[in-house]
Amino acid sequence: MKRTIIYTLFLLSFVCQQANATHIVQNQYDSSLNQSEHMSWWTHDRFGLFIHWGLYAMPARHEWVKSREKMSDEHYNRYKNLFNPDLYNPEEWAYMAKAAGVKYMVFTTKHHDGFCMWDSKYTDYKITNTPYKKDVLKPLVNAFRNEGIRIGFYYSLLDWHHPDFTIDRNHPQMPQNPELLKELNKNRNMAKYREYMKNQLTELLTEFGQIDELFMDYTYAEGENGKNSKDWDAEGIVKLARKLQPQIIINNRLGLTENRQDWDYITPEQFMPQQWPTVNSQRVPWETCQTFSGSWGYHRDEYSWKSVHQLIVMLAETVSKGGNLLLNVGPTARGVFDERAIERLNGLAHWMRFHSSAIYGCTAAPTEYACPNNCILTYNPNTNRLYIHVLEWPFKSLYLKQYKGKIKYAQLLNDNSELKFRTETKKGSHMTENTGADDVIITLPVERPNVELPVIELILE
Ligand code: GLC
Repeated sequence: MKRTIIYTLFLLSFVCQQANATHIVQNQYDSSLNQSEHMSWWTHDRFGLFIHWGLYAMPARHEWVKSREKMSDEHYNRYKNLFNPDLYNPEEWAYMAKAAGVKYMVFTTKHHDGFCMWDSKYTDYKITNTPYKKDVLKPLVNAFRNEGIRIGFYYSLLDWHHPDFTIDRNHPQMPQNPELLKELNKNRNMAKYREYMKNQLTELLTEFGQIDELFMDYTYAEGENGKNSKDWDAEGIVKLARKLQPQIIINNRLGLTENRQDWDYITPEQFMPQQWPTVNSQRVPWETCQTFSGSWGYHRDEYSWKSVHQLIVMLAETVSKGGNLLLNVGPTARGVFDERAIERLNGLAHWMRFHSSAIYGCTAAPTEYACPNNCILTYNPNTNRLYIHVLEWPFKSLYLKQYKGKIKYAQLLNDNSELKFRTETKKGSHMTENTGADDVIITLPVERPNVELPVIELILE
């Protein structure tokens, strides 16, 4: 008996090892590979959490504060000398993220202020040199991975601390008179800064296990005194990242537009595209990054917070146009999510508990399914199910144009309760329905389901 158990365990571990090996082989990124293949997990998962956390949580008035208020290095240094997030507990963050239905997380390893949230050996300007003294990145990565959440790194191309990064129009030390720039930049050497970036990226992409997404931020080539892809050696960065992490998914903010292999997805920020975005008339993978309140870093006095309802609609709408939502939280300088963020994440968690099948694995509905009034459609091509997100609950009837013969079964998603549907129109003196012969009418309960955004699930023929 004992022997059989040991043998079974041995067999099992062997099978697992094999499965793992296959997984690694399949993960090898090959430049001839269809881009959609190495992105299949990403287009399936749809929902990520952005985390903007750094020294700027202390001034608590936007992550660009150093530039906006033209602070000197010395002045900004006060935050580094005081940063001590005593309540930091990444397990707590990961738990909340998981509950909210998030499948991947993207963390600001270094933002524009140049401050590094890991123990980089290429700078002293880092978390381990604050009163907190400890690295925050490794524990964060571990905590999220333990919850089954994939890991992405945000890395700023801008650096308002590095002595070789040339002063430009975004820099805190940009002079009023741009003619002075030459003189100010004469001892700064971007080649050295490029090397610094590559060294740091190598650390980030070799010391933290598998990194699934790389969010580089950003190129501002247009207009005066900006920076372009050559300033970063963007091509070199893409090559390096693909070499070190073959499966990595890279955004389009390095400023490389010529070669489709240089980016995997586009990044509309803080706005909702009208339809699935295209590049050269081709629909492309896209991820919109959105804030709860307008600022990315923790902003104490920002009051334009989106409601839970708005955020859920945003998620559904993004998926209905074939995109991903990367929703941002800016933790405080104590190391916690503030109560307004927690309230929103809880709201999302409650909705996702019952409705995630209308998000994961879903995309835009085929055009043959017309979108009813006041609704959003998402569609799962694998299960052949259509999801009608009902923004305004109509009275008793939901009219579906040209759906005759297309529906096998209909139900409310929150409780799997059946919804009857018919094609025959009612004709009576007081209620004559003027629907077309191929239309379907779903009979709804008068009372709207008690969820933020009710969803009707159609199992299609
Ligand atoms: C912009 C901002 C930056 C923010 C980012 C998020 O590029 O400069 O502060 O981190 O967008 O996408």
